[in-house]
Amino acid sequence: MPASGQLMVLLLLCLLAMALPGVGAGSGRFWHLTDLHWDPGYEAAAAAGQPCPSGGGRAGPAGPWGSYLCDAPWNLLRSAARAMRARLAAPDFVLWTGDDTPHVPNEQLGEEKVLHIIANLTSLIKETFPGTKVYAAMGNHDFHPKNQFPGKEHRIYNQTAELWRPWLSDASLPLFRAGAFYSEKLPGPGMRGRMVVLNTNLYYDQNDETAAEEDPGGQFQWLEETLTNASRADEMVYIVGHVPPGFFEKKRGKPWFRRGFNERYLGIVQRHHAVISAQFFGHHHTDSFRMFYSHTGTPINVMFLAPGVTPWKTTLPGVSNGANNPAIRVIDYDQDTLQVLDMVTYYLNLTRANTMASARQEEFPEWEEEYRLTEAFQVPDGSAGSMQTVLERISRDPHYLQLYYEFNSARYDLEQCQQECRVDHLCAIREVDFLKYDECVKTNSSASAASSVWLLVFCMFLGFLSPQPVL
Ligand SMILES: *[C@@H]1O[C@H](CO)[C@@H](O)[C@H](O)[C@H]1NC(C)=O
Ligand SMILES: *[C@@H]1O[C@H](CO)[C@@H](O)[C@H](O)[C@H]1NC(C)=O
Ligand SMILES: *[C@@H]1O[C@H](CO)[C@@H](O)[C@H](O)[C@H]1NC(C)=O
Ligand SMILES: *[C@@H]1O[C@H](CO)[C@@H](O)[C@H](O)[C@H]1NC(C)=O
Ligand SMILES: *[C@@H]1O[C@H](CO)[C@@H](O)[C@H](O)[C@H]1NC(C)=O
Ligand SMILES: [Zn+2]
Ligand SMILES: [Zn+2]
Repeated sequence: MPASGQLMVLLLLCLLAMALPGVGAGSGRFWHLTDLHWDPGYEAAAAAGQPCPSGGGRAGPAGPWGSYLCDAPWNLLRSAARAMRARLAAPDFVLWTGDDTPHVPNEQLGEEKVLHIIANLTSLIKETFPGTKVYAAMGNHDFHPKNQFPGKEHRIYNQTAELWRPWLSDASLPLFRAGAFYSEKLPGPGMRGRMVVLNTNLYYDQNDETAAEEDPGGQFQWLEETLTNASRADEMVYIVGHVPPGFFEKKRGKPWFRRGFNERYLGIVQRHHAVISAQFFGHHHTDSFRMFYSHTGTPINVMFLAPGVTPWKTTLPGVSNGANNPAIRVIDYDQDTLQVLDMVTYYLNLTRANTMASARQEEFPEWEEEYRLTEAFQVPDGSAGSMQTVLERISRDPHYLQLYYEFNSARYDLEQCQQECRVDHLCAIREVDFLKYDECVKTNSSASAASSVWLLVFCMFLGFLSPQPVL
């Protein structure tokens, strides 16, 4: 073979390597799991024919894999762990965004029990992914009394830091003890990614410890500094936490953060968006996302809200039928830029799992692929620009709205999402800011929009008004 022929082959191979995605630094994958809410009393109650402790007195059938009225039995968590190993046993890392304990009153828990539950789930995740880096965030239920996280050192932070020590760097340890937040460079050669894990429970409006503080734990200042440093070091960042800013899409006018904290968080994202590749949060138990815009309205960032593993139907007044199927998710990402390339969500049809279980005992139920972001919504990736396209699709096309809505509860609620439902979801996705959210709900509210159109037509019909004075 002449030398030029060999050169040609080499050149072709080079071109091929450049054209193929995933060659070189390329793409990686990680798990995001959230809101496991283990109910350790589930099995005993079921065996005794009593409602589960987390059911809040709501009776209902307690299946072997769980119940929509209850938090997760151990079997459901084992099944989730098994499904994760089967689907992707060696992720680059795992995001675990908290809420480990059952929805029961404080009196039924106590500090020791809360720590025992966190310890048990920590072991489960360690055994599921031995040797894998896990970035863990505390959820509002991972404290006693629940929600009351202080912006300073605490025994529970110390104990949790010990449990998570194998996952924390030496530099993260003292930070975690002082406020349960930290930041670490992502592992891997030449990677310029950084994970920023926040304790946003400090901003939760149910937290009385931090209510009067301006910057609890100094976390905001630390976050700004961390993002400024990341920019100088040419790093790209994921922000991870439990309680998200903005509004709950299943209940109109329901935010989680206190107003001032919400503003400050939003301002930080607006100032530092250039180094933030994406944000990953939990707490809702539902599958949704939040858009962030510049002051001129350009989409600059996206927050992905992952569905929970617990199927627990919320008792929040005003939410109807707020349960979900248990779900877990894999994110495909660019290891260099941390750009989200795709996202695959897996879910367990709990009704089916429980029905099949009576026929075939001992067998693990199948966690099915629910959807792949790029296929379901016809977008190239999970960037802020693409998620804006997703938002526009679900705003304009009822078919996409319904698709989004069924994914929102991991296909538990298959009702039609119309009028009020549509406004609640679209405004929550679009507006993280309190004032803009209120405005969005007001101007889009179908009732007021419909009635003002009707009024206008009525007045014009009567000839009392021409359209001009109305404008
Ligand atoms: C966690 O709890 C389950 C169920 O009670 C038990 O089988 C398992 O051994 C516990 N794991 C640890 C590490 O304590
Ligand atoms: C937490 O741990 C650190 C280091 O071991 C210790 O100095 C501190 O006193 C502990 N704080 C609390 C509140 O237990
Ligand atoms: C930011 O970088 C400066 C200079 O290297 C360092 O002193 C500081 O601790 C860093 N801040 C954070 C929050 O990492
Ligand atoms: C879940 O399973 C039940 C029982 O088999 C079935 O009726 C229902 O349609 C399934 N849900 C979905 C989303 O497939
Ligand atoms: C809702 O209202 C906002 C103004 O607050 C407007 O920009 C937006 O287009 C409206 N959205 C829908 C879906 O009608
Ligand atoms: Zn939760
Ligand atoms: Zn929560």
